[in-house]
Amino acid sequence: MPEGEEDTATPPPHFRIWAEDARLLLKDMPDACLDRAYLMFPDPWPKARHAKRRFVHPENIRQMHRVLKPGAIWRVASDHPVYQEWVTEVMGQQDLFDAPPPAKERPEGWSPTRYEAKAFREGRVPFYWTFTRRP
Ligand SMILES: C[S@@+](CC[C@H](N)C(=O)[O-])C[C@H]1O[C@@H](n2cnc3c(N)ncnc32)[C@H](O)[C@@H]1O
Repeated sequence: MPEGEEDTATPPPHFRIWAEDARLLLKDMPDACLDRAYLMFPDPWPKARHAKRRFVHPENIRQMHRVLKPGAIWRVASDHPVYQEWVTEVMGQQDLFDAPPPAKERPEGWSPTRYEAKAFREGRVPFYWTFTRRP
């Protein structure tokens, strides 16, 4: 797409935007209803006393496991060193997802985002995790 032009493709008819807290939506979703989920550059909440606000957290991990189909993919990206360490630690302690180490270059099929572009501009290296929902 030429620089400065908007992508005006019509979204598919089932496309919806939820502009509220994603955790409220998650709680109301049925079991095993998603083939894929993306968590792109979530707020890092870098202060230790705010750690419980981080989206990658045991309660949300349980919810993500519940709404994803067995074998489905949960993709998470972060450029923040505190969050990178946190995800590595928290996902290393759970057994609901296969959680291999992250890629350091954006894997094929991931969409670029504004915060990713900001990270590149400011010299940070995003981590890209691909978690697979265990049965
Ligand atoms: C660092 S920005 C990243 C935005 C975008 N994903 C990107 O990569 O450019 C984090 C975004 O997450 C949103 N956010 C934080 N907590 C949320 C929640 N519980 N539910 C939905 N959105 C949330 C914030 O409002 C903010 O827009």
